[in-house]
Amino acid sequence: VISRPASPHHKTAHLTASDYQKAAGYLRRGGLVVFPTETVYGLGADAFQADAVDSIFAAKGRPADNPLIVHLPEVSWIERVAASVPAHAELLFRRFSPGPLTLILPRLPELPAAATAGLPTVGVRIPSHPVCRKFLIACGTPVAAPSANRSGRPSPTDAAMARREMDGRVHAILDGGPCEHGLESTVALVEERRIVVLREGAVTREMMQGVLGRIPVLAPNSTAEPELSAASPGTRHAHYKPAARVVLFEAGRLSAALAEGEGSRTGVITLMKRDAAAATGGGRETQVPGGPGSRHLLRSMKSVEDYAHSLYRTFVEFDHAGCDLILAELPPAGGIGAALRDRLRRAAGQE
Ligand code: TXA
Ligand code: MG
Repeated sequence: VISRPASPHHKTAHLTASDYQKAAGYLRRGGLVVFPTETVYGLGADAFQADAVDSIFAAKGRPADNPLIVHLPEVSWIERVAASVPAHAELLFRRFSPGPLTLILPRLPELPAAATAGLPTVGVRIPSHPVCRKFLIACGTPVAAPSANRSGRPSPTDAAMARREMDGRVHAILDGGPCEHGLESTVALVEERRIVVLREGAVTREMMQGVLGRIPVLAPNSTAEPELSAASPGTRHAHYKPAARVVLFEAGRLSAALAEGEGSRTGVITLMKRDAAAATGGGRETQVPGGPGSRHLLRSMKSVEDYAHSLYRTFVEFDHAGCDLILAELPPAGGIGAALRDRLRRAAGQE
């Protein structure tokens, strides 16, 4: 077993995508490895090495009551970590995996308790990112991993962000380029007669409902059942927050929002109207509201997907630029817009 990164002065290996075997070697020997997925970067350990799993919580500063997602290279591996797979879970995995969907299933008793924060369930996901899949196959073991940010901060969506969060705290960082979706996976609790979404993501409720027909797919917080908040520990913790204060505004209400933030160095995120995005070739336009010399930074997203993809990186860029206020436009709720609105509200401290 290799030494653990107890101090923040650990030597971290920075590996390119073709070095996925080497990254897997660190993990198999009990190390911590940051790896790419199509959603955000993960901070992985062998799910069956309890000490390695414990060290994830230390590296992140994560509360021990928040369970981890177990990542697998293919559907046939689910029985290595789950005690059973209900028929509707199987339908969902067949339709949406590999991809950004995590299902909460009954766990196998052999799985170390730390991986699931002592819960009787386990979160299972089969990522689609090609480098991730090669890495997971080379690991040859289920990989327990939260997002690779320090607890409470935005998740890293490229290797440079992951490096800023985890350099010196992990054994290796595997670079797989920028993440496609940029927001964490959909997390859904599988019950006998219904599915309860605990966290919105790129696999939407409508998409799942389309596959399941009569089995209801419930929205987060749509019921006030106390068992559900116990089943959804992640929702109790602060999340996705940049250092700057975040204030949200509805489309078309930017000037009012700017007036309120007067005196602050402000980062502004807007969503371009469809025709404006087309007129500029869909490119990202940077203008300075208030003219030259303004202390504001503007980021115009060309689509809701682009907004999701770039949200966390933009938060970090604005933090680095010294913004003390971020004004962010609320996107429409369709498609990944639901997940984006959820992360924006959390960043703004609204839930
Ligand atoms: O896209 C993603 O899901 C990324 C990549 C790395 O896969 N991972 C990720 O992990 O976002 P994390 O730990 O940051 O978020 C996992 C969420 C948490 O809110 C956690 O509480 C919930 O999933 N979760 C995990 N296992 C659970 C379980 N057994 N029961 C209920 N919620 C669970
Ligand atoms: Mg996270």
